[in-house]
Amino acid sequence: MDQIRIALIGYGNVGQAFARMLEKRREYIRETFDTDPVVTAICTRSKGGILQPAGAGGIDTARVTDDMFDKLIDAIKIIDFGEYDVMIELTPINIMTGMPATRHVERALQRGKHVITANKGPIAWAYRELRDKAEENGVQFLYEATVMDGVPVYNLTRETMMGCRITEVSGIFNATTNFILTEMEKGIDFEEAVEEGRRQGFVEADPAMDVDGWDAAAKLTALMNVLMDVQITPTEIDREGIGHITKEDLDAAAEQGKKIKLLCQGRMEEDGDTGILKPVGSVKPTLVDQDSLPAIMDATSSYVSIMTDLMGGVTVIEEPFEPEIDHTAYGVLSDLLRILNDTKIK
Ligand SMILES: NC(=O)c1ccc[n+]([C@@H]2O[C@H](COP(=O)([O-])OP(=O)(O)OC[C@H]3O[C@@H](n4cnc5c(N)ncnc54)[C@H](OP(=O)(O)O)[C@@H]3O)[C@@H](O)[C@H]2O)c1
Repeated sequence: MDQIRIALIGYGNVGQAFARMLEKRREYIRETFDTDPVVTAICTRSKGGILQPAGAGGIDTARVTDDMFDKLIDAIKIIDFGEYDVMIELTPINIMTGMPATRHVERALQRGKHVITANKGPIAWAYRELRDKAEENGVQFLYEATVMDGVPVYNLTRETMMGCRITEVSGIFNATTNFILTEMEKGIDFEEAVEEGRRQGFVEADPAMDVDGWDAAAKLTALMNVLMDVQITPTEIDREGIGHITKEDLDAAAEQGKKIKLLCQGRMEEDGDTGILKPVGSVKPTLVDQDSLPAIMDATSSYVSIMTDLMGGVTVIEEPFEPEIDHTAYGVLSDLLRILNDTKIK
């Protein structure tokens, strides 16, 4: 039986959830692809890395303990010298630079390794270069979990909407802000809504990147770069957060039969002077009718609408799921299954 060797760069919430899910589907993968998935390297920033020697059977991820990590083994050492077929990049996003994830992805592709990431940074900052590098090296670069977790957005368009030109993407991409607005509609104020989200475990200690619209801007950028084949960055998105929205604003909206939602929208627009089409993206609190699609997306639901030239629009909705982290882990697993399906690993 063949093996597919996996290096996990970043082993936090998503990395560990993915490792558990891989165990759950190990037999399925062996039976379906006649291939045994083995984790040959793991690393974190603070603990260092575990690098399996050549020929060893793979790391038992259910039994990883802190004393197995070597502080001298870091991400670059694993990416440049480790023995693996697929590098899975799961470090935290730096929305302002896309680093160090972009560097990790670039170096693994350069070595002719497949790459999967749940980190939006590389696609929001360097999609074209990375896509081209993957092509030059005959490997796959996949990122399904970067937007709407395990919901197939990139796979949907790539596999089933061939030949369509995507002219617009829109939706609600950030669950934290949607949850805060939903809670505030119930009459509590902003700080209390944030606290409730923290209590339920999905609002971060510092939610500024969500509240200020940066996370949504990075997701919109990632979607536009891939689906519309453009080259923009999160800083080019016309962005406004929800920090200034008050209970009174939501009450005033309700009196008009409306709600306020943090809507994302990206499309091509003709430049007034040159007539050349250019990508334009915005993330903004927007008044929407109470019976419209964005208005019924409560709490941690999100959706993306994709408009095409050949067959109009398609909308995909992500419903809340417990444990939520498994949704993301499935996005990563689905990319791995796609590589197994498409490629005979040597
Ligand atoms: N959590 C979600 O629901 C979700 C959903 C979609 C996408 N994502 C994306 O998935 C990625 C991982 O998220 P997460 O929730 O698993 O984050 P996390 O729990 O914070 O884990 C991040 C991991 O990366 C490690 N790390 C940080 N910098 C590193 C470096 N330079 N080299 C090697 N390892 C490094 C961390 O090590 P230390 O702990 O030692 O610092 C930790 O093991 C992020 O990009 C996130 O945006 C997450």
